[in-house]
Amino acid sequence: MLGTVVLGAIAALAAYLVYFLFIGPSLNPLQRLAGPVAKGWFKNHLQIVLECPEISPKVNEFYIGRYGRSIRVQGVGPWDVRLLTLDPISVTHVLKNSTIYEKPWQSRRLITSLIGCGMLAAEGAVHKRQRRVATPAFSVQNMRALVPLVFNKGAQLKTKWLDLIRETPEPLRIDVCHWISRATFDVIGLAGFDYSFNAIENEHNELFSAYKEMFEVAVSQSHPFKTMFRIYMPFISSLFPDATVRTVQRCQAVIRRVAGHLIQEKKAKIEQGVKSGVPYAGRDLLSLLLKSNVSTDLTEDQRISDEDILHNINTFMFAGSDTSSLSLTWTILLLAQNPALQDRLRAELLSVYPSTMGDLSDLSDDEIHSLFTLISGLPFLDNVIHESIRLIPPVHSSIRVATQDDEIPTSSPIHGRDGNIMQKSTVSVPKGSFVHVAVEGFNLDKEIWGEDAWEFQPDRWDNLPEAASQLPGLYSNTLTFSAGPRSCIGLRFSMIEIKTFLFILVTNFTFKPTGDKILKANVVLTRPYISGKFKEGSQCPLIVLPYERHAN
Ligand code: HEM
Ligand SMILES: *[C@@H]1O[C@H](CO)[C@@H](O)[C@H](O)[C@H]1NC(C)=O
Ligand SMILES: *[C@@H]1O[C@H](CO)[C@@H](O)[C@H](O)[C@H]1NC(C)=O
Ligand SMILES: *[C@@H]1O[C@H](CO)[C@@H](O)[C@H](O)[C@H]1NC(C)=O
Repeated sequence: MLGTVVLGAIAALAAYLVYFLFIGPSLNPLQRLAGPVAKGWFKNHLQIVLECPEISPKVNEFYIGRYGRSIRVQGVGPWDVRLLTLDPISVTHVLKNSTIYEKPWQSRRLITSLIGCGMLAAEGAVHKRQRRVATPAFSVQNMRALVPLVFNKGAQLKTKWLDLIRETPEPLRIDVCHWISRATFDVIGLAGFDYSFNAIENEHNELFSAYKEMFEVAVSQSHPFKTMFRIYMPFISSLFPDATVRTVQRCQAVIRRVAGHLIQEKKAKIEQGVKSGVPYAGRDLLSLLLKSNVSTDLTEDQRISDEDILHNINTFMFAGSDTSSLSLTWTILLLAQNPALQDRLRAELLSVYPSTMGDLSDLSDDEIHSLFTLISGLPFLDNVIHESIRLIPPVHSSIRVATQDDEIPTSSPIHGRDGNIMQKSTVSVPKGSFVHVAVEGFNLDKEIWGEDAWEFQPDRWDNLPEAASQLPGLYSNTLTFSAGPRSCIGLRFSMIEIKTFLFILVTNFTFKPTGDKILKANVVLTRPYISGKFKEGSQCPLIVLPYERHAN
């Protein structure tokens, strides 16, 4: 009797496995799409699709020529058939329909284990609530209020570099990326929760080290297998924490203590303001979130908790520091590699540089605001930023999962696995399928941007091809900040940061390449590495010379 039950169970399990591994996948309509061959069980295209910005433009170009714009790729096993779409109509559909296309639970769980379930990781009603409370904090007016703070940090970085130049007998060679990331951390600390890491001066602050170390863990990702284990078996991994898990726990304890204290302090100040009738004037994101939460437009279930606030502050730290410092670093590297464009940009920036002004720190807030208005109106600066952010987007790609069966519309013919063009204009994706959103893929598409799509040509923005101006995107037809309801909430914030820093740095320094060849690698974000020195970690060394304006 027992034997029969066991045998029956084994047979059922075997039947399930055969279905799961072989029959299910073969019935998957995505199997009928054309796509590259993956041989063997664990062969997949994930590395090529996800991690190699040095080769992915060529891979994408090859795929489009051979398989069309709706491409079948292989995930982590034969049952994991995915769609890589390079069709603008399809990607618009996926990004705008954020209720059907959610972020995969695997990446959400990984992010949540580090920074909590803030806006980046949440889905559904929780995400909606958080985004709604945060949106007023990122309004044009509130972002403008941060301009003087960003100017001061830029000026501080400039002073620091001038000191280094003075102390170094030979031309100064520094890792620009490391320095700028210290400055962008300072900015998000002050702007995010009115907290001074003071990282430009030194890197010893307790909270700064906790965040740095925790993000480092996410970036180095120890071993892919271990990461998988932590994602799929969080319970076991928390019962038997390895060194990585212990580091994360230690950092989280520091963050909870210090940031938790800051949150309570702010709440007290806001309450005090309400009582005394003189509203608290803090313009940092934490104060704005707290104020937004008590606003009378919200119903009770739209309000957020202390825990949500902490997770979102962590999220701003995580989403807003390295992204900004990387786009600044890549822009400065591109300018170093293109000295004529660097000179042109400097001349434009100097045209609004107050001629009587020696040092920026002498400016009043009002003067800074009027200067920033002038800077914002500079056309070539705008083109340089558009172009650098198109060419090297810090977020290389993203992934969504279909939460129901869906038909994705396309604009170009769908190629079948049998080599024929399919007689339909939609791709059928079954519930549970992964869809790869190729951010960089769209930004660098030659059929869209023209033959020079892989080159740094800021002037292209004066005259965009028709196809490019039809692409979706939060920021000028690039997918760099994504699109739709899950697109970047920090776009305005980062534009203020990038424009201000470029203004201060390019008017006071000349940047030159070193002999090192800098390569791109996608390690959570697209980061610079020296060719052959991957083990040394991400770095972007440049020669930084003081620029002195000639009287004329
Ligand atoms: C150059 C700088 C930046 C770039 C390129 C960038 C890019 C992006 C992208 C591509 C996404 C979508 C992620 C996905 O779908 O997987 C995103 C989301 C997000 N970004 Fe940014 N970002 C930048 C700066 C910032 C800053 C400064 C902040 C905050 C102060 C910020 C906060 C966020 C948040 C909270 C989300 C999640 C939004 C949501 O899911 O509702 N980002 N960003
Ligand atoms: C979202 O998906 C539905 C169903 O596929 C479709 O009718 C609708 O047009 C899509 N919305 C957008 C904004 O693409
Ligand atoms: C948001 O408002 C609700 C209701 O007033 C309150 O219970 C909650 O503690 C507030 N959240 C924070 C983080 O202050
Ligand atoms: C920064 O650059 C501006 C414009 O080139 C110049 O007037 C100013 O003196 C420089 N500041 C320092 C501290 O060198």
